[in-house]
Amino acid sequence: MKIKNICCIGAGYVGGPTMSVIANQCPDIVVTVVDLNETRIEHWNHPDVENIPIYEPGLSKIVSEARGRNLFFSTDVDKAIDEADIIFISVNTPTKTYGLGKGKAADLKYIELCARQIARVAKTDKIVVEKSTLPVRTAEAIKNILNNTGNGVKFQILSNPEFLAEGTAIADLLNPDRVLIGGDQSDEGKEAIQALVDVYAKWVPIKNILTTNVWSSELSKLTANAFLAQRVSSINSLSELCEVTGADVNEVAKAIGMDSRIGPKFLNASVGFGGSCFQKDILNLVYIAQSYGLNKVADYWEQVIIMNDHQKNRFANRIVKSLYNTVSGKKITFFGWAFKKDTNDTRESAAISVANDLISEQAEITIYDPKVSAEQIYADLDYLGQRSPEENRKFVKVVNDPYDAIVLSHAIAILTEWDEFKNYDWERIYGGMMKPAFIFDGRNILDSAILTDLGFTYIGIGS
Ligand code: UDX
Ligand code: UDX
Repeated sequence: MKIKNICCIGAGYVGGPTMSVIANQCPDIVVTVVDLNETRIEHWNHPDVENIPIYEPGLSKIVSEARGRNLFFSTDVDKAIDEADIIFISVNTPTKTYGLGKGKAADLKYIELCARQIARVAKTDKIVVEKSTLPVRTAEAIKNILNNTGNGVKFQILSNPEFLAEGTAIADLLNPDRVLIGGDQSDEGKEAIQALVDVYAKWVPIKNILTTNVWSSELSKLTANAFLAQRVSSINSLSELCEVTGADVNEVAKAIGMDSRIGPKFLNASVGFGGSCFQKDILNLVYIAQSYGLNKVADYWEQVIIMNDHQKNRFANRIVKSLYNTVSGKKITFFGWAFKKDTNDTRESAAISVANDLISEQAEITIYDPKVSAEQIYADLDYLGQRSPEENRKFVKVVNDPYDAIVLSHAIAILTEWDEFKNYDWERIYGGMMKPAFIFDGRNILDSAILTDLGFTYIGIGS
């Protein structure tokens, strides 16, 4: 079977970039990305491609090449489902905020709604692909819904988790370490797997396309994120030990990373990991383990989250402690709000937690981030529900210029590792600040020797 028409439900950080790259690499396939959110689709169709809703290096260019040719963004979900041979489900699966599994399990409401909509609309056989990260055995649930509510058409369910990291999404999609496709091991299942393999094989070497059963594929995605997050929490736990013993966590990370068995990646000590996946996926893993009564397994992975929360709180506490145990009425400047550089995504960003802690201490926070809007920052704080929107706006100001942000500030906190921070005129910044001028480098990206020479009190993570 040859795929000619793809529909993707969900025009988010995963669906948008992934489908743009597929459309770009496969000009003979029509790709339609649909979303319930009309404003989001309007932005994807914005005449100026620089205004699409997601900032990812290289994405605008790819969209400008493919959009209108074989890449379309639409809110007509039924039509796109009807016309497609293969439907990717790429909607969000947030952690449940209510009921059974609250705070841990993934909320599969949207996935189920998609499955029911597909079942209602489909008039010809379809392949349905789980692109969202899902708990193990979700494919089974989707299959049940499709087979019991459909119009008699046949469905094959595949799991094809996405491993792209934000900020490098396009490079990751063009040169993936691997593409993982899980499917039923029956003849029909294998045929569906092959159809999707053929799509990726247009640009991914066949040796990098891995096929497995559905459950291995689903679990591999959770496991990959859990392992990556665990490395960050491991090095962060040691950063605290370094601070009290006089070791330097950067040196330790370098020394252990040169062991080829360990490797150098994901060993940057930081203010804590964020993003839409790590915490959610680990909580999911914890929930699954608990639901099978595997409490030791659950506790083991939960510790990764506990350590991450500790690291975020610890960073805020260190600021308070260093500023003579009070930040009340003091201006503190945040450089960065996104959960990592080169993205405008702020989900679970450590900055949110640190700001919350400092507002509780009555600090006045001024924020500059090159890509995140004031609207988003206030929405993140309001979402916490810790205080009224008016209070959040009283304590937090968002500015568009880093040099305006630091005027009469007592301290700067680096929350995101944006490259531009390294090239600022730090002498000028020092001149504009209150003295002593503190820098809390939550990403260890600045040169402590140079800043100390300029007069700053520099405090990094793990040294
Ligand atoms: C994220 C994670 O990155 C992914 O791994 C996880 O499994 C799902 O959530 P992402 O693309 O970043 O995926 O999510 P998001 O940017 O929130 O996009 C989801 C889109 O789906 C939204 O635009 C939303 O409007 C849309 N949606 C949601 C629908 O179109 N229909 C629905 O029923 C629900
Ligand atoms: C992650 C996975 O890498 C990706 O494969 C999956 O598809 C989605 O989840 P993402 O969350 O976009 O991707 O970014 P990632 O680069 O993994 O960073 C996650 C968080 O960890 C960020 O807040 C980052 O700043 C932090 N981090 C990462 C560290 O603090 N130290 C490190 O050494 C690496």
